[in-house]
Amino acid sequence: MPQLTELWVDRTDIRTTKIVNSTIPDLTDGEVLVTIDKFGLTANNVSYAVSGDFIGYWKYYPADDNWGKVPVWGCANVVESKCADIPVGDRLWGFFPMANSTVLRPGKVTDKNFIDDTDHRKELPALYNAYSRTKAEPEVLQTMENERCLLFPLFATSYVLYDYLLDNNFFGADQILIGSASSKTGFGLAHLLQQDKNVSAKVVGITSKGNTDFVKRLNCCDDIVVYGDEDSIDRNVPAAYIDMSGDVRLTKALHMLLEDNLVESAMVGASHWEDGGKAGVLPGAKPKFFFAPGQIAKRDQEWGPGVMWQKAMMASAGIAQAVKDEMTVDWTTNVDDLATLWIQLLDNQIPASRGLMVSLVH
Ligand SMILES: NC(=O)c1ccc[n+]([C@@H]2O[C@H](COP(=O)([O-])OP(=O)(O)OC[C@H]3O[C@@H](n4cnc5c(N)ncnc54)[C@H](OP(=O)(O)O)[C@@H]3O)[C@@H](O)[C@H]2O)c1
Repeated sequence: MPQLTELWVDRTDIRTTKIVNSTIPDLTDGEVLVTIDKFGLTANNVSYAVSGDFIGYWKYYPADDNWGKVPVWGCANVVESKCADIPVGDRLWGFFPMANSTVLRPGKVTDKNFIDDTDHRKELPALYNAYSRTKAEPEVLQTMENERCLLFPLFATSYVLYDYLLDNNFFGADQILIGSASSKTGFGLAHLLQQDKNVSAKVVGITSKGNTDFVKRLNCCDDIVVYGDEDSIDRNVPAAYIDMSGDVRLTKALHMLLEDNLVESAMVGASHWEDGGKAGVLPGAKPKFFFAPGQIAKRDQEWGPGVMWQKAMMASAGIAQAVKDEMTVDWTTNVDDLATLWIQLLDNQIPASRGLMVSLVH
């Protein structure tokens, strides 16, 4: 008898996990059962957990008491269906729990995708409720499933950030400072800026000593600065800071160094999830949260619905192709090892060059 296996995380202490085995629930009318045969794991998933209460990521797949299910980007097969519009055998890409299976309730079904219409998800951002039906997609995307799980959700954000900078004439900056430059979101942005012959701004990647060689090998930054050496950045050149680290020390150091020459300060991520905090009043542009759906909505108005997302997917495929020789893909295939991996991710023990894929389906 197949079992449902999930990894739950304590919402009050994300280092505590528990493996939960249970029977697969019977479907009710309108539902489908899917087996999640692959998903990616990155610092982004840690951020989902850290901001789970604040932004609502725990609400996608609720668990009991103080427990939560961290969402991940993965691929799944429909193995049982009580939904007339979604047949057994359909292949999906979207937001899943860290598990071997789950139940979805497809709504607004088109050839290309559907929205999960489960009651508790109705109020949540649509981006994460949409499931692509990948058999209807271009073949090139179908051959890039691992990249889609591991890289595309991050590179899509890199593309939105790149577009945001272009759209705002770089806020007048002549250098773009990227915090946590070895992160996929970070080096994806660096890559897009450097590939664009019309971009004259210098790309400065800021990273840890241990990840410097990786960023060098990617060859997407004009300069690489190690944490603590920020004084080597030219304070006389107007700069935009795009921060994937969330490290308050770094934010303060850059604002104090560049003062009014820091013309944009965008808080995108918190890969240094234990080093956050209030920065207080700082010289230069006021740090503000970067809201990717805001820029996407703007472009949907200007370019037509879905055009930006399409461009982001194509850009993601390009970056994935460009970096493939510098990254390994390591598979974890049982839930005990996944629990260990989760802790390693929290403790920054995963080198930037190591891509983590998981499959709990055997
Ligand atoms: N706002 C949005 O829409 C949005 C969208 C996508 C991603 N993001 C955010 O961007 C950040 C990066 O995500 P990603 O998935 O691209 O990351 P990733 O590829 O997994 O990043 C790995 C890098 O993050 C740093 N890092 C990871 N864990 C760490 C830890 N425990 N302590 C200190 N540093 C650690 C290290 O870089 P360094 O040594 O270079 O610091 C590491 O090489 C996340 O916070 C994510 O949530 C935000």
